[in-house]
This record gives sequence, structure tokens and C-alpha cells, in this order.
Amino acid sequence: MIGGGYVGLVSGTCFAEFGTDVAIVETNPDRLAALREGRIPIYEPGLDRLVAENVEAGRLTFGDDIAAAVKGADAVFVAVGTPSRRGDGQADTSYVYAAVEQAARVAEGYILIVTKSTVPVGTGREIAKIVRATRPDLDFDVASNPEFLREGNAIVDFMKPDRVIVGTDQSKPGGTQRAQDILRKLYRPLYLLERPIVFTGLETAELIKYAANSFLAMKITFINEISDLCEKVGADVNDVARSIGLDGRIGRKFLHPSPGFGGSCFPKDTRALTAIGRNAGSPMRLIETTVAVNEQRMKAMGERVIALAGGDVKGLTIGVLGLTFKPETDDMREAASIVVLDQLDRAGAKIRAFDPAGMETARPVLPEGVTYCKDALDAATGADILVVLTEWNEFRSLAPEKLQARMTGRKIADLRNIWNPESLKEAGFDYISLGRPDMVHTA
Ligand code: NAI
Repeated sequence: MIGGGYVGLVSGTCFAEFGTDVAIVETNPDRLAALREGRIPIYEPGLDRLVAENVEAGRLTFGDDIAAAVKGADAVFVAVGTPSRRGDGQADTSYVYAAVEQAARVAEGYILIVTKSTVPVGTGREIAKIVRATRPDLDFDVASNPEFLREGNAIVDFMKPDRVIVGTDQSKPGGTQRAQDILRKLYRPLYLLERPIVFTGLETAELIKYAANSFLAMKITFINEISDLCEKVGADVNDVARSIGLDGRIGRKFLHPSPGFGGSCFPKDTRALTAIGRNAGSPMRLIETTVAVNEQRMKAMGERVIALAGGDVKGLTIGVLGLTFKPETDDMREAASIVVLDQLDRAGAKIRAFDPAGMETARPVLPEGVTYCKDALDAATGADILVVLTEWNEFRSLAPEKLQARMTGRKIADLRNIWNPESLKEAGFDYISLGRPDMVHTA
């Protein structure tokens, strides 16, 4: 497994749990040192125990020596990052290609090269070219096995997936069989759980991942626009979302209004799909709009907080609950908090922030002046306005009286709808949320 980040570490550990010997190769020295000392460099519930058990059982090892890991391996998974390229929004495949070349150089005998990273359509074929150029003598196949795990629920998602996608080179009949057999073996426990394994061609598998993430991002963006409309016409987005979600064709998930989608996948994958569409001469207009609407939305959220303050936050203290792009992760990649806090900071606010898992990952990406607090009540202390940016469960149970006792002001912008508007108003707060009537006291 090349790459020991979210996907490499979780997939590698779960494959080990399935009974396979796994060597994870990680080049980041801090990450590797942590893993070797039994510390998990990411926040993922349950992962520490699973890693410890599999290391103990001798099925899971960590190192930076790609040759040692690849020698004698039946399959090499590539799980390195594919960030957005600056400018055109395409996925940067340079880490993938570099990893493949390194692996090809040291492979012995037959090897199956599998992309777990999310890669643009055509990457599998490009990988085959690179391997042939690097090692004309090597017997190999290429497969695409995109990963659908969600941070925060990654182990369950990997062990009990809705589906596993295996794309192989269908223009190469023998190769397809060999590649499919290896992946079938690796995922054997899932057959017992009757989880579907879908076999496709390379391009199809690569596109499935982008289509899935872009659809979900579009669904989030749809409810966000409906939420804005609710505010204008006096409707309640929670009721709209629940009611449309009860229709099985729509489904209830991903219909929660938010300050915009962030994270390591949706923003970059939607951008990448629009680039793929453009290059193929088949524009992805819905997704292009999704990307634009989402970017505007994050900015609009900061403006909403400023409007709640009466148009000016200069010199005001703003308490912020939640920084990560969603709960149950420490991931700050493309989190809405980055955009919102930047706006508030530039407008002259003093920011006191707390996140249950993301304090360390937040520091490098948030404005320097932010004060990091020891808990939610500490962040509320002395605040003129309190802003909720991530819906961590522990915030839901904060009693309004406790907030009142700590805060200087009486204004709350709940940008995740975690609280009940009436109770907050009763407790004396001016309370705004998303897609529900504002609860503001008028003189
Ligand atoms: P990450 O950035 O957390 O991990 C990538 C790791 O690979 C880093 O630790 C990096 O040091 C290491 N690395 C890079 N080049 C290397 C090399 N040549 N040899 C060894 N290690 C190397 O990224 P993450 O989040 O795990 O994502 C990886 C891929 O999986 C991306 O394509 C992403 O889109 C996809 N993905 C991510 C999901 C997520 O929830 N984070 C879910 C599904 C797919």
C-alpha cells in the first residue's frame, strides 16, 4: 500500500484485518514515525485498536522502503494524494505516477497495480504506459479500485461497503481475469456479507468515483439553495428536506443545509469532473454550477455573521464552535471555517475557536490571530456572537443558560441547525440558522 494517509492507512489496515499481509509505505517522516510508534496520525474512531491488533499479529508493517514492500507482493495499491492542480482544477496525478514508477522499478515477477486514489479517467491506461516504459520486461496488470470510505466512519465503510468497484483492462482478456481473481481474493470476506462487487472496465471505474462524489456534492448544494429560498419565502428547510427525503427515489441523506461542502474529496472531485468533461468535449454543467454555488455560499456565510452583528464586527469577540469540514474527523481540507474565519478576521473580529479534534490541523490554515480554546464554553467566554460551523454532537447538548453565563453578547449564528430556534429565543438569544425563520428579538 503506497501512501499511509486516510485511505492508505484505513484500507491497508482493513485488508490486514481480512487476513492479508500488508506493508504500508509512507514517505512523510512524521507520519511514518507516528505509525511506527503506534500513534495514529489521523483522527479516525476505532483505527488505533485495529492497527495495534494487526501489527501485533504480524500482518501489518510500516516503512519508507518501497522496494522492500513491493518485492514479492501480488498487488501494489496506490493510495497517494491527487490534489487539485492550481489553475485548471484537474486532479494532480504526479504523486500517483511517481509511486507507480517507483514500484515498477523494483517489482519482481507478476504484479497487479491498483489505484485506490481518486484518479481522472485515463489514468489507468497512462499507468500501463509508464510501467511498460520503465520495465519493458515486467509482467503486470492495472486495475482501478476507487475508495468510497467516509472519514469518521471509515472502518465500517471499508468492512461493510455499499459496493466495491473493480475496473480492469477489458481489452486484455487474460489480464482481466488475473486482476479480478486477485481482487476477489482480497475482498473475499465481503462475499460472505453479500456486499456487491461490481466488475467494470478501467475508464468506467475511474468515472464511477467522480460521478458518485459529484452527485452527492450536487445534492448538498441543492438543499443549500432550497434553504436560501426557504428563508426568503418563510418556509422551513428541515421539513422540506425530511419530506422530500421520505421519497425513496430522493433519499434522506445529504439533505442537511450547511455552510457549503468541504473536505478532502468533494471540492477537488467536483472540480476534477468539470475538467474531465471540458477535456472530453462533454461539459458537466450541473457540476460546474455546483462548484460555483458552493464557493459563493462559503463567502455568504461570513457575510451573514457580519450582518447579524449589525454590519460590523470590528473589535467584537466571536466564539466559533467547530472547525473541521465535518464532525468525527480532524480533517481541515477545504473546510468552510477557513473561508468564514478569514472573512471575520479581515473584518477585524477577535476569534475564539474550539474543535474537539481539529485544533492542531486547524492552526496552519486559519488566520494567525485566532485564539484556540480548551472547550466549547471557553470559546463562548466573552463572545459577542457565537458561530456554529461543525455539528459535533457535544455541541448539541450545550445548555443555553451556560452559554448565556459565559457570553457577553446574545447573538448566535447556527450554521448547522444544531439547536432548536424557539428554545434559543426563549433563552434570550438573537438566533439565526439556515433555512428556518430567524429568531431575533425586536424592540
Ligand atoms: P492523504 O494526503 O491523507 O494521504 C496520502 C499519503 O501518501 C500521504 O501521507 C503522503 O505522505 C503519502 N505519499 C505520497 N507519495 C508517496 C510515495 N511516493 N510513497 C509513499 N507515500 C507517499 O490523502 P487521502 O485523504 O488518504 O487520499 C488519498 C487518495 O484517496 C486521494 O486520491 C483521495 O481523493 C482518495 N480518497 C480519499 C478519501 C478520504 O476520505 N480522505 C475517500 C476516498 C478516496
